[in-house]
Amino acid sequence: MANTILVGAQWGDEGKGKIIDVLTEEVDIVVRTQGGNNAGHTVWIGEKKYVLHLIPSGILREDKLCVIGNGVVIDPIGLVQEIEELERVGIRVSGNLLISEAAHVVFPYHRELDARRESMKGQNKIGTTKRGIGPAYGDKAARTGLRMIDLINPERFEEKLRLRIKENNEILRALGAKPLSFKKVHDSYRAAGDRLKPLVANTVIHLHQAMKNGADILFEGAQGTFLDLDHGTYPFVTSSNTTAGGACTGSGVAPNRMDRVIGVMKPYTTRVGEGPLPTENAQIADMLHGMGREFGATTGRARRCGWFDAVATRHAAILNGIDELAVTNLDGLDTLDTIEVCTAYKCGEKVLEYVPVDLETLSQCEPVYTAFPGWNTPTDKIRSWKTLPPKARSYLKIIAEMTGAELTMTSVGPARDQTIFL
Ligand code: IMP
Ligand code: MG
Repeated sequence: MANTILVGAQWGDEGKGKIIDVLTEEVDIVVRTQGGNNAGHTVWIGEKKYVLHLIPSGILREDKLCVIGNGVVIDPIGLVQEIEELERVGIRVSGNLLISEAAHVVFPYHRELDARRESMKGQNKIGTTKRGIGPAYGDKAARTGLRMIDLINPERFEEKLRLRIKENNEILRALGAKPLSFKKVHDSYRAAGDRLKPLVANTVIHLHQAMKNGADILFEGAQGTFLDLDHGTYPFVTSSNTTAGGACTGSGVAPNRMDRVIGVMKPYTTRVGEGPLPTENAQIADMLHGMGREFGATTGRARRCGWFDAVATRHAAILNGIDELAVTNLDGLDTLDTIEVCTAYKCGEKVLEYVPVDLETLSQCEPVYTAFPGWNTPTDKIRSWKTLPPKARSYLKIIAEMTGAELTMTSVGPARDQTIFL
């Protein structure tokens, strides 16, 4: 299978967790390269539901090495919890998980600042997951962050944390928030550090050694293309590079070592949090929520929903160099007679075929729709491409063609066997 980067081609929650779980069977190592526990990857195995936030979904398969790369920001207490929850249900984590010593640590002051800044923004809030992701990456860029290597070295950690708490308490006080107790943060983080220490490693060297020995690696993206810090609908984005390039910087594996990029998308569009969603549509949102679908895995928030936006996915294909497409949640459209697809944005006199950088321009864009016939029949029991309703096959082919990449997989439900290969 060689080295594969898997990215979300929309605004996150494309069903990447499920596709990663299926693809993991063919690889040796799965690597997370960006984001933190803002992510929520849901995987169903039999009757059991697993929601992973930091640990790669590959952990659910025995004998696969999972790596949390240098590009990830780690809440160590959350990570220990996640490990313990998995081990409680019999999933082996120790021995199957490595954590980069260069990954940055998320602290309670990051979460406090995230929440404070959001509430100060009022109407203009981003709608973050309040996991402290933005402030943690902010500290990384400002060169004031602490890394996993600091967390597992008691003396160094104490000295550095003392300074960070001092500075951040001043900021928190100025913002009208409660200052943090150094001792409380220190002791809880040190305990987590001790627990994680055996897993912390130089993951760059480890990955290169494994590649030398012929290992195939899957780089699993979190969030989606339009939440990318550089290429998304800024400032309504997350604070990392969710596009394919992030897999390289976030792991230390060079671009010319990557063999293919798989984009995951839904046959409709969703977004959780604030910011533009050109094809947003109340009717399709009501329909999907009524089916019990499209509630956030991390925050439980109802996701905003809309028609498939081919302008966005085409743009995503360019940004990520998408070779192959996996379309999940096909069964979400099973009850429709007609399906609309946005093929262009009309902005005044101009017709745009890409997502404009300027949000003011984007807000003046009207989606141009083309209607396609729905199949209006359940697909969740179907297991092969040939037995899918012809209208479903044709719809899938059309959205893949509009996106500009080859359709290789689709999925008609959360179970492993509800995956159809072309
Ligand atoms: P943050 O990453 O918590 O700072 O949130 C920034 C934006 O990204 C908000 O709109 C979040 O809802 C969104 N976001 C962050 N992580 C995810 C995810 O895993 N799936 C979908 N949206 C996400
Ligand atoms: Mg998610």
